Amino acid sequence: MIKKTLLVSLLTLAVGFTAMADKGMWLPSLISSRMKDMRSKGFRLTSEDIYSINKASLKDAVVLFDGGCTGEIVSPEGLLLTNHHCGYDAIQSLSAVEHDYLTDGFWAMSRGEELPCKGLQVAILVRMEEVTDRLAAGEKAEAIIAAAEAEGTGYSAAIEQMYYGNQQFLFVYKVFRDVRLVGTPPSSIGKFGGDTDNWIWPRHTGDFSVFRIYSSPDNEPAAYSPQNVPYRPARHFEISTAGVREGDFTMIYGFPGNTQEYITSDAVDYIADVADPVCIALRTERLDIIRAAQQSDAKVRIQYAAKHASIANAWKKWQGEVLGIKRLGTADKKRAYEQRFAAENPDKAFLLDSLHAAYLRNTTPYYTRTLFIETLRAIELPQIVRFAMTAKDKERAAAVADNFYKNYDASIDRAIARRMVAEFLRLAPEGTVPEALSQLIARHGGAEAYVDYLYDHSRFTSPEGFSTDTATDDAAAELIGAMAPLYDLSARYAYRNLSNVPDIERWYRPYVKALMEWDTDRAFFPDANLTLRVAYGKVAGYDYADGVYHRPQTSLEGIIEKDNPEIYDYDIPQSLRDIYASKQYGRWGVEIDGRRTVPACFIATNHTTGGNSGSPVIDGRGRLIGINFDRTWLSTMSDVEFDEEICRNIAVDIRYVLFTIDRVGGAGYLLDEMTLR
Ligand code: ARG
Ligand code: GLU
Repeated sequence: MIKKTLLVSLLTLAVGFTAMADKGMWLPSLISSRMKDMRSKGFRLTSEDIYSINKASLKDAVVLFDGGCTGEIVSPEGLLLTNHHCGYDAIQSLSAVEHDYLTDGFWAMSRGEELPCKGLQVAILVRMEEVTDRLAAGEKAEAIIAAAEAEGTGYSAAIEQMYYGNQQFLFVYKVFRDVRLVGTPPSSIGKFGGDTDNWIWPRHTGDFSVFRIYSSPDNEPAAYSPQNVPYRPARHFEISTAGVREGDFTMIYGFPGNTQEYITSDAVDYIADVADPVCIALRTERLDIIRAAQQSDAKVRIQYAAKHASIANAWKKWQGEVLGIKRLGTADKKRAYEQRFAAENPDKAFLLDSLHAAYLRNTTPYYTRTLFIETLRAIELPQIVRFAMTAKDKERAAAVADNFYKNYDASIDRAIARRMVAEFLRLAPEGTVPEALSQLIARHGGAEAYVDYLYDHSRFTSPEGFSTDTATDDAAAELIGAMAPLYDLSARYAYRNLSNVPDIERWYRPYVKALMEWDTDRAFFPDANLTLRVAYGKVAGYDYADGVYHRPQTSLEGIIEKDNPEIYDYDIPQSLRDIYASKQYGRWGVEIDGRRTVPACFIATNHTTGGNSGSPVIDGRGRLIGINFDRTWLSTMSDVEFDEEICRNIAVDIRYVLFTIDRVGGAGYLLDEMTLR
């Protein structure tokens, strides 16, 4: 009986881990190993078309946008597409009361009207190269990086670990620092559905914005200058306006940030049973406080919109992640897999014991750091005072403070602080609350009384009280001092994941190596680490619930159904209503489900994660068919285990992008420099 169950679970395992079809985020320089599979699924080009160092390839048209998103070049003159939520900071910085581009949108009607974005940069990969052997032979990483950076103007290089350090790759980028805003739809299109629709399918968000890369007249990266000219890329994406059909091949080329495919059951338990649930609960409390304040005050609604969005984004993602990990039984499957590994590799079983012991040693400090970040460090007052204490440049500090207080409400912060101090004390593992902090709170008669004292006495609750000279004497200074050991711990454990804490990671190196030697049927891909990757799959709906199938394409019909002038997140621009009423869709009108309409978004089975926002979604001929911007929340466990049945990335259909530029923005002239097929 036991044997039988084991056999069954091993069989499921084999299926789960080997017949993985659309799972994986592949290194472009090694993509030839996937070519057979890709071609069988509808890819028509060659690996050299994806990545080449000898000729122009698609990689030359993909950019790392603003250090955390992806973008794609769509014209010979450096025109760039990414998401609205990726361009958000730049758009917000360029906005003012007289010209609020977030609310109203913006369209440059000529090159001269394109707006320089201070601090915004994009990086294009020049090449990538494995340097494991060179490092093993004694070459210094710094020397390899320095040599690579000396190769060209604006070059920046980094060595990144793959498979927990079993392989090292050198990445050489060209970094462009003159990037200008060309256009953005209003938030009522670019952020349509707001946080309510975030991570949700069916989706109707026109989540895109348009930029242009500028270079020196000799086409090299340069700091902003009026003398700069549009960058002439080696390659730009052609655009397909043919539309998508269920089953079509899709490929995503971009910069996924973080996955944890190979972690052990201990780490999965930590995510699903410890970290995620606690973080979700703490953020629920913060969001409740913010939402209540937003509902009773229109000014607060705007002030806290961006904060609310960023708190709610991971909050919703974690809920999907826990659900998915539980439903898939990921931890149990991993336990069975580990047992099998140990049984078949008795000489290497100690690696699992060592990993287990390493988790026992490191989980408490890592968890304490997470808890600190989600509670005490989420309180804004001590953060701004701490900033003032350490600021070197007074003028810059004043500017940062200006920005901070624009979106700060001390009564909300106080309410959050009352809860978060109490929660930290309640949840902190034994021995992790700094002595000075316990004393400080006890001296004032408990968390809430102390917080009230703090907010009654700190001068930094209002912009008038901000000063780099008085911060060290402020009431908050004592709290900051008392939290010093936590700031310290947080710096010491600042790793991407618990599993990347060096004392744990050093055991993953031999463990994953052993897995690769042992589990030869498994298609190993290196975890995402914000380096350039290829994921491929197909346009596909999915079974959402018993009896409910979610089809893969949405349209303007759904936008109009959701439209509601009373609800901020669903209040589309009047111009879009007018276009719908007149049905004047021009060349963008297509037949969907028997109705003439405009396509909006679609879903596909590509394995993506945060950082893939803005990524080009391309068809079998390498043509752009959409811009990736989200996953469904039921997919988010794909950072740990990808489930082809249900995991779907969400893209805005390129035809909705073009329609919006052309018909809503009135900037159809931009299409002239694109290559539409
Ligand atoms: N969920 C997407 C991502 O993970 C989009 C986030 C921005 N949109 C929003 N409504 N908060 O980043
Ligand atoms: N919106 C995410 C991003 O900003 C992509 C969604 C996800 O797949 O996590 O990268």
